Amino acid sequence: MRILITGSNGLLGQNLSRLAPAGAELMGIDLQEMVEAPGLSRFRRLDLGERKLLLACVEEFAPDWILNAAAFTNVNGAESARELCWRANVTAVENLALACRKLGSRLVHLSTDYIFDGDHGPYREEDLPNPIGYYGKSKLASENILRSSEIPYTVVRTMVLYGHARQVKPDFVSWLISSLRQGKPVRIVTDQFGNTTLAEELALGIWRIVERRATGFFHIAGTEIIDRYAFALKAAEVFNLEAGLITPITTAELHQEAPRPMRSGLVVEKALQELELELSDAAGGLRKLKQQLDAPT
Ligand SMILES: NC(=O)c1ccc[n+]([C@@H]2O[C@H](COP(=O)([O-])OP(=O)(O)OC[C@H]3O[C@@H](n4cnc5c(N)ncnc54)[C@H](OP(=O)(O)O)[C@@H]3O)[C@@H](O)[C@H]2O)c1
Repeated sequence: MRILITGSNGLLGQNLSRLAPAGAELMGIDLQEMVEAPGLSRFRRLDLGERKLLLACVEEFAPDWILNAAAFTNVNGAESARELCWRANVTAVENLALACRKLGSRLVHLSTDYIFDGDHGPYREEDLPNPIGYYGKSKLASENILRSSEIPYTVVRTMVLYGHARQVKPDFVSWLISSLRQGKPVRIVTDQFGNTTLAEELALGIWRIVERRATGFFHIAGTEIIDRYAFALKAAEVFNLEAGLITPITTAELHQEAPRPMRSGLVVEKALQELELELSDAAGGLRKLKQQLDAPT
């Protein structure tokens, strides 16, 4: 089985290659030089927005599957860097779908709860999208490309990813742990609700999709809907850090460039039942991460 992982340097990309099934031949694509990743036998530094280069590269590798973990993931930055965001999140998916149609490859594409407005979450796979920021709009556009494509595809929506990976942008949990370890006070919002997701569990869910050749839409995330402040307190407890450094605030006080879905969250029942995944609650995911970080490398 030949598998192309796009965004292989990213948090999810690294977890995908680390947890790949035995015997899979893996190639990675990313914008920057390759971050050393066990499992990848080939790597190409490439912008997925470059249609010709991408098509040539995919044709040469001829993957059975493409797992698209590449994206412009800076939610606030997307409001001003719209062209860059569209190129990575939409044009790239058009190009990947084209490559899949030419070669008969199957595509697993990652999306987000940000395609919903967050008025009445948690959301099921079939609920009506209504993104309120540019990042969410670009991700919905990417989903729509696949809906109207004639290729076998799977869209996996997830949210608040955290986990272990090398040289990646800090996720919420790694930023929090590093701040608290340095004794820095942090302000965390109490009014944003949703699931939190261990990247390793998401990666295993994607490999289960590959194993079962599952198509359609799946929500894969931790099982618990929790506000961000409560999650931060759990992280402080699990990692034995000073919870007194965490101050509760509201989203309005943060003055972020992009609006956030406030009552968000993804219902993961379908993934639990149809894919038979093991997904943790908030504290369980954090404990698994601690075990990973404590394990000798
Ligand atoms: N992180 C979350 O909380 C979260 C929540 C919901 C959904 N998701 C979705 O889950 C997926 C994986 O997220 P992640 O957190 O693993 O992302 P990540 O760590 O930011 O990794 C994405 C990778 O894709 C690369 N990339 C960006 N544009 C590219 C392009 N045009 N061509 C090739 N590579 C490109 C990035 O390179 P640079 O770093 O150099 O830009 C980065 O290495 C994404 O689809 C994201 O939208 C993430």
